[in-house]
Amino acid sequence: MSTATNPVERVQQAFEREYGRPCEALVRAPGRVNLIGEHTDYNDGFVLPMALDRAAYVALVPRTDGVVRLLALDLDQRGSFDVASARRRDARGDPHAEEGGWLEYPRGVAWALQEADAHALRGFDGVLASDVPRGAGLSSSAAVELVIAAAFQKASGFVWDASEVARRMQRAENHWVGVASGIMDQLVGAAAVEGHALLIDCRDLATRPVPLPPGHAVVVLDTGTRRGLVGSAYNERREQCEAAARTLGVRALRDADLAALEARASALEPVVYRRARHVISENQRVLDAVTALEAGDAVSFGRLMDASHESLRHDFEVSSPALDQVVAAARSAPGCRGARMTGAGFGGCGVALVDDDAIDAFVAQVAETYARTSGFDGTFLVASAAAGAGRVDLDPA
Ligand code: GLA
Repeated sequence: MSTATNPVERVQQAFEREYGRPCEALVRAPGRVNLIGEHTDYNDGFVLPMALDRAAYVALVPRTDGVVRLLALDLDQRGSFDVASARRRDARGDPHAEEGGWLEYPRGVAWALQEADAHALRGFDGVLASDVPRGAGLSSSAAVELVIAAAFQKASGFVWDASEVARRMQRAENHWVGVASGIMDQLVGAAAVEGHALLIDCRDLATRPVPLPPGHAVVVLDTGTRRGLVGSAYNERREQCEAAARTLGVRALRDADLAALEARASALEPVVYRRARHVISENQRVLDAVTALEAGDAVSFGRLMDASHESLRHDFEVSSPALDQVVAAARSAPGCRGARMTGAGFGGCGVALVDDDAIDAFVAQVAETYARTSGFDGTFLVASAAAGAGRVDLDPA
């Protein structure tokens, strides 16, 4: 029996058991935590996520035909499809998943990579596993989509252009899986640089690696709660933002400032006004956060994280009692520079910036305070900033 616990070893060992030979390649794609810039990506705005050292992995051997055979190790389920089946659906004008289930993710990736005859795909025999917590707001599904794209790249040999692949994976998520997400998760997963956060301009997809503050760690605060009904609330926020942009006469809220918002305040429903105020102020906070990080100013950066949370809580209304409790617990713990919810919201995770010297005391105190105030057990992960999707070197046999 295998005793491997890390996914790199697990996929390689499972590959040998499943296919009776060693894999020829191993690819990975990371989850992410967003440091600041929440619900700005679909407003053409700015975000500052970092890729996590938690990732999805595929061990594979390329095939010469278009068949994909895949074992999803975490689910203990097998499936296969031919990339031509994903193309045929496109020709019928029906790019949506039909069957449901996990296999629609890889099939949606095949559809998106082949759309408009972009890439000729070859299949692969593969084993998939991930250690990105699922449903926690850490982009576990974007990691799976990207790692499948990386497996297709390995099997088919097309040129890996991070922003092009990210756009295609976003299309897979939007049109095949049916979630109207922005581009942040896919692009940071494709383009992140180790040891850095990634500033993304979600209009032109320009990216810039930003150094993390020396002497500090990013801590992911998993509330242990999982979001429900997030799709409808997310889409409603998107519609409110689009309504605000129309009333302000701009292409997207990215193009408005607070003075323009105030000037038209009476023309906006109060709730739409507050949604717009969050997005406009959050975009400015991202730019200010980059200035702070580039100056090594962890204190200012932490204050911006705090302000982001308050804006998400009161103006955008996507926080939850558990998120507010974990953020409050973090702020009162030793060494905390700032804390906020991260991701779409309604549950999942918070994120904090913490002085390196205080990490152990911080984690102990947050765990205790959060359990006492919320009744939930949290999980606290000291994260390091990983690189975007790519191949993993195999140990020489
Ligand atoms: C989800 C979406 C992202 C982004 C965030 C909120 O994670 O997938 O595109 O909109 O919510 O910032």
